Amino acid sequence: MSQAGLSVPSPAASVASAINDGHIHVLLAASGSIATIKLPLMISALQRHSNVRIRVILTKTAAKFLAGQSPEQPTVESLAALPNVEGVYQDEDEWVESGVRGAQILHINLRRWAHILVIAPLSANTLAKMVHGMSDNLLLDTVRCWDTTGQIDGKRARIIVAPSMNTAMWLHPLTAQQIRVLEEDWGAGNDAGEQGGAAGPGWFEVLKPIEKRLACNDVGVGAMMEWSEIVKVIEKRLGLS
Ligand SMILES: Cc1cc2nc3c(=O)[nH]c(=O)nc-3n(C[C@H](O)[C@H](O)[C@H](O)COP(=O)(O)O)c2cc1C
Repeated sequence: MSQAGLSVPSPAASVASAINDGHIHVLLAASGSIATIKLPLMISALQRHSNVRIRVILTKTAAKFLAGQSPEQPTVESLAALPNVEGVYQDEDEWVESGVRGAQILHINLRRWAHILVIAPLSANTLAKMVHGMSDNLLLDTVRCWDTTGQIDGKRARIIVAPSMNTAMWLHPLTAQQIRVLEEDWGAGNDAGEQGGAAGPGWFEVLKPIEKRLACNDVGVGAMMEWSEIVKVIEKRLGLS
């Protein structure tokens, strides 16, 4: 890509250049729930670790909650401007150069870069798609190409998800089935591995939703775990003091 005659690396090439930069890499993602607005709080809390670098993936729907519609709803641009955030990616960033033979591929490079992937909030839609192996956007591509054995990248990083949905969605039998796959078939247990590496047989960890009055005014289980508790889990899994 070239702007005003200057050569600008593609998003994928820019991720590639940071894979071995010696920092701890948190790949933070959000899917389509209002809890997406907690991203800046989580990012700000992680800023106290000077060796942590953050990249963010937003689904199309998550980005809709980040348009500055209310004082507590930031913009996508303001996320990108936070210290330690090295990139905010959406589906179109996959295609800046990817159609070109031999070009770098963003979802593969994000996987290589990440020491942990945290999807908070995880929507019912993205939960269902990931369990069934669907990969029709940047976030799902990244989950689908995860190195679940550690044989590709020489590290087996953990994926942590924090579901957030209406109580009726959470209580639906489909949800229980899908969560069972994440916890029982793909589950990593709760032991911290080195730099987020999965310690148990699997690579997935589910941070269960909590009960409160939801944005839709229903009261019940389904709200995303408190953002500060999610940050504590990230810190623990990455061995950050
Ligand atoms: C205002 C609004 C709030 C929503 N909140 C949630 C939510 O908290 N959790 C959820 O699973 N879906 C929620 N949805 C529905 C999702 O946004 C929808 O299923 C979408 O397709 C999710 O796409 P994604 O998983 O690709 O981000 C909401 C929709 C709207 C319009």
